[in-house]
Amino acid sequence: MSEKQKFYITTPIYYPSDNLHIGHSYCSTAADTMARFKKQTGYDVYFLTGTDEHGQKIERKAHDAGVTPKEYVDKIVAGIKDLWKLMDVEYNDFIRTTDERHVKCVQKIFKKLHDQGDIYKSEYEGWYCTPCESFWTELQLKDGCCPDCGRPVEKTREESYFFKLSKYQDWLIQYIEDHPDFIQPPSRTAEMLNNFLRPGLQDLCVSRTSLKWGIPVEFDPKHTVYVWVDALSNYITALGYDSEDDSLYKKYWPADIHLVGKEIVRFHTIIWPIMLHALGQPLPKQVFGHGWLVIGGGKMSQSKGNVVDPVKLCERYSSDAVRYFLMREMPFGSDGEFTNEALIKRINADLANDLGNLVSRSVAMIEKYFGGVVPAPAEYTDVDKSLIDLAQNVWQSVEKSMNALQFSSALTEIWKLIGECNRYIDLTTPWILAKNEADRPRLGTVMYVLAECARIVAVLIAPTMPRTPERIFEQIGVTDEAKKTWDSIKTFGGLEPGSVVHKGEALFPRLDIAKELEAFEAERQAAIAAAQKKEEIPAPADEEKTVFTQRDLIQFEDFEKIQLVVAKVLACEKVPKADKLLKSTLKVGDTERVVVSGIAKFYTPEEMVGKKVVLLANLAPRKIRGVESHGMLLCAANADDSKLSLLTVDSDMEDGCEIG
Ligand code: MSP
Repeated sequence: MSEKQKFYITTPIYYPSDNLHIGHSYCSTAADTMARFKKQTGYDVYFLTGTDEHGQKIERKAHDAGVTPKEYVDKIVAGIKDLWKLMDVEYNDFIRTTDERHVKCVQKIFKKLHDQGDIYKSEYEGWYCTPCESFWTELQLKDGCCPDCGRPVEKTREESYFFKLSKYQDWLIQYIEDHPDFIQPPSRTAEMLNNFLRPGLQDLCVSRTSLKWGIPVEFDPKHTVYVWVDALSNYITALGYDSEDDSLYKKYWPADIHLVGKEIVRFHTIIWPIMLHALGQPLPKQVFGHGWLVIGGGKMSQSKGNVVDPVKLCERYSSDAVRYFLMREMPFGSDGEFTNEALIKRINADLANDLGNLVSRSVAMIEKYFGGVVPAPAEYTDVDKSLIDLAQNVWQSVEKSMNALQFSSALTEIWKLIGECNRYIDLTTPWILAKNEADRPRLGTVMYVLAECARIVAVLIAPTMPRTPERIFEQIGVTDEAKKTWDSIKTFGGLEPGSVVHKGEALFPRLDIAKELEAFEAERQAAIAAAQKKEEIPAPADEEKTVFTQRDLIQFEDFEKIQLVVAKVLACEKVPKADKLLKSTLKVGDTERVVVSGIAKFYTPEEMVGKKVVLLANLAPRKIRGVESHGMLLCAANADDSKLSLLTVDSDMEDGCEIG
């Protein structure tokens, strides 16, 4: 017997800084679907996922939560594992960058690259805030001062290690040009070559002395390994690369596919291949950059408060329905809009109507006309033959699409067969055949064809919807495992006549769209109310990769509801026991009011006094840490929480002036 071909697939390792949202589930669902498909088609599959637990972001969040970074991540990682269980994401290994096996291996990798001269010690030039012990680049400074504490900074140098990316630039360009499949979809190849590689690579700073929550450089422990060097290595540390037992590495490396979101293709196709090449290791065969699930045209993110919780969706509609929607709705590689309405419509149209009806009608008719026993087919007519032809050949186009990670096309092909089956029922009119005893053999043939098609469909959908096939097999009476395999659908006729069908519950009950949308809206309102109750000022955006995206358009009347005015800060003080909050007393024309703002990291109370700021004046009052806040000061904040700037007016306008 020939040995199975191996297939190694990975997801990115997720930041455990927040609960994961449906956008994260997208990548894992795709990887899991692919892994299942490869298993089904005879591969020896290894599927890796995990968490990326080091770095400043986590360090800060843990600090804010009053726990150690490890305690902080442990709790979130447990939730992530629960989510994958709920969504039937069945990985072979879950690597955490805090795992001893990973830490040790990253240290070895760093040392090896250093010993061979690819990592060298130099100095990182930038700005230093002594009280905060932080380095800042010119761009990160706020009015020339430390963006964290507002105090003056000194031009300084931090000793750092650098990785010689520049040395490998020409090699990498050549490699990518010679391997057009390495970066997929092809548009991303052009992006990497034109935007990053051809303009020239600079050596990369790969250690920090100011960051403590990370992997220490073994031979120089005051340095911490740069988080991306740490994170990318997971794909080989998990396999035991350079360890006592490297059997998995020998068996599965190089990866067949690294599935990643489009914004991190750059790290995976520049830093990672150069690291591997420098280590003398083969490169992954392919890095596939998929698109984003967006909301209102913008990326879903915790900081924007527009995330969709996959747990709630799975609990409400089943994980199979959610997985189907994710894989069906948009071509893999492009962005796709997530709406509750689209999800419900897909469930109703594709799952309840098309698939659900095919199975329930077929089973009901076999029960009614043949006492629940699948009849043997008589002679096939042209109508039968054309459906049979489709049913026994569809696996070919599905296989082609799946191998190209075109999940949506694969499902479209399968749904063509389902559509044809439903049309076949209308064409053959079994209820009329049932009236005439002479048509009984014909009726038996029609029933057999339908039940056999349902079996084929069940096998085809298994990678995307792992739970539904068993429910279909149970209903149409397939018990033999051999009749559930990929190979078994290449020839029509696998279903044994004489099998006993069992009418079961509807596979996917039809949903009342209006009712479902109402429920979503009620949930949204409840979430808003809960957030307000928390009496917390939302933290500035905490996503490293967030970019400006336009929200839904509003009408002028909506804008008119907002009252913006110039306000002068008369007094300002810190809110006790709240690191982030300042309480400002503002003069607005003849009136005074108090506003609480989450800006203490960026402004001292002294700096605030005298400023002319922009106030959202007609925001309903809210109690924040016991202080009633009457309005909101407008600020611009960058994506990673490191910069924030109050909006002020360009010339000296009097307080009380309306803005608009
Ligand atoms: N930790 C890094 C990856 C290191 S891999 C060596 C990271 N983590 S992440 O948690 O921010 O993102 C993990 C994956 O989720 C990324 O591939 C990202 O593109 C994906 N998604 C996050 N939000 C998404 C959507 N809204 N839609 C689709 N995928 C998105 O980056």
